Amino acid sequence: MNYLIGIDVGTSSMKTLLIDESGVVVGSVTEFYPFETPKPLWSEQDPAHWWKATCVSIKRVLEETRVESKDVAGVGLTGQMHGLVLLDKDNQVLRPCILWNDQRTAKQCADITAKVGAERVLELTGNPVLPGFTAPKIAWVRENEPEIFAKAERFLLPKDYVRFLLSGEHFTDVSDASGTSLLNVGQRDWSDEMCDALEIDRSFLPEVTESTVASTRISAEAAAATGLLEGTPIAAGGGDQAAQAVGSGIVREGIVSATLGTSGVVFAHSDEYRVEPNGRLHAFCHAVPGKWHLMGVMLSAAGSFDWYKNTFGGEEDRLAEENGSNVFDLLTEQAAAAPAGSEGLLFLPYLSGERTPHPDPNARGTFFGMTLRHGKGHMTRSVLEGITYGMNDSLQLMRNLGLEISEVRASGGGAKSDLWLQMQADIYGSKVVTTNVTEGAAFGAAVLAGVASGVYNDLDSAASRIVKNTGEIEPGNGRDIYADFYPEYQALYPALKDRFASIAKVIDRHV
Ligand code: XUL
Repeated sequence: MNYLIGIDVGTSSMKTLLIDESGVVVGSVTEFYPFETPKPLWSEQDPAHWWKATCVSIKRVLEETRVESKDVAGVGLTGQMHGLVLLDKDNQVLRPCILWNDQRTAKQCADITAKVGAERVLELTGNPVLPGFTAPKIAWVRENEPEIFAKAERFLLPKDYVRFLLSGEHFTDVSDASGTSLLNVGQRDWSDEMCDALEIDRSFLPEVTESTVASTRISAEAAAATGLLEGTPIAAGGGDQAAQAVGSGIVREGIVSATLGTSGVVFAHSDEYRVEPNGRLHAFCHAVPGKWHLMGVMLSAAGSFDWYKNTFGGEEDRLAEENGSNVFDLLTEQAAAAPAGSEGLLFLPYLSGERTPHPDPNARGTFFGMTLRHGKGHMTRSVLEGITYGMNDSLQLMRNLGLEISEVRASGGGAKSDLWLQMQADIYGSKVVTTNVTEGAAFGAAVLAGVASGVYNDLDSAASRIVKNTGEIEPGNGRDIYADFYPEYQALYPALKDRFASIAKVIDRHV
């Protein structure tokens, strides 16, 4: 039996999975580590935590499963995207990694966009230059820490720094590199034009390959530190979203995933390089060789339902405690008693501002259309509907780009409730499917290692072998009702946009 290891270099922890070749998870180890917020909007992490976690977790997963290192066919890497690890000429880390959720670079984003031109940036990189992306962080270090920048000879993404320590080599993959603003996403190679505009020496960037390539191997030093065999192949791997999609079988056009976690992610495989003309969807290289993906991100998806429960669900919480039931089940039962469309009560889920389709930090949560008829069931239902409309906004943008959606694979909180699954099928106007895969990005990284080491022929055959449907929900009676209410929901943000901006100024003066 062949075994595969997937390692996810996450923001608050590293997850290491050992799977067998049929996709069964044999071992799983999670190692937690801290990140720092030294100033408002800043988010940083010491890369030394990742190496310690890598060594401990590989050793532990081998020990706990008693799988011998000679039976590990390959290792796959994934992790938080966009982070900047700066190395000097001796490959020593020069400063803490600036993470994906760091927001300090608004000025550098504006400068790069002005220099290259907004349209050209979109054409080349598939996306606007966003504060979380890597290139503006490089520009920030150059402007604000020139003494550190002067010593820099290499830029790496988080999982690729772990790869360097495992193999002694500098490599990245096209999906992770897509989040740097330095990759020509259509051509799947570094963009000379973006590098020139940023005055970045191309030799500072690692070599970039497709995600399924066995780009490097475990070195003798890393073998001693982890218990793996020297020479074990390491797949190029992928960014966390692309890797998670690989693990869930989102490897063919027409299949889309809708993950309702705290944030909401709609992820589509695309056979062609498609760019949303206003840059409202991320357009990245997929971890599937020669293919791309489109992605929409809602900042408060199931997070909005959590907020609602914490704020208005005190009674249900108490009841759930008394009966040993689940507070979310009690709330969704109430919601099920209200009619589809909540009799015109609409909820905008912009509790933390929004990313897709309205990149607007000032956007706010809103209940609209309250009457004397509306009770708590309506409010609960309208929250679930508002979140689902928000996810549908991303699907609509994808459809507008010519993507035909045959199946939406639901996961996260939204896949646990029958009401919410049916609501998704009705609002998306598409078949919604649940699957047996509950693991995230580390699982996908292990599957990528399977292709890199020859255990699987390709990602499509791996998906057919591993991913099985556990439920299928067709759109039902709610579909026509939601088709009427959805345009009303869509019209609310443009109507309120200026008010969101002006109240933000008033709040600044008083809060
Ligand atoms: C992707 C993104 C996140 C981070 C952290 O664009 O911002 O998925 O990679 O998980």
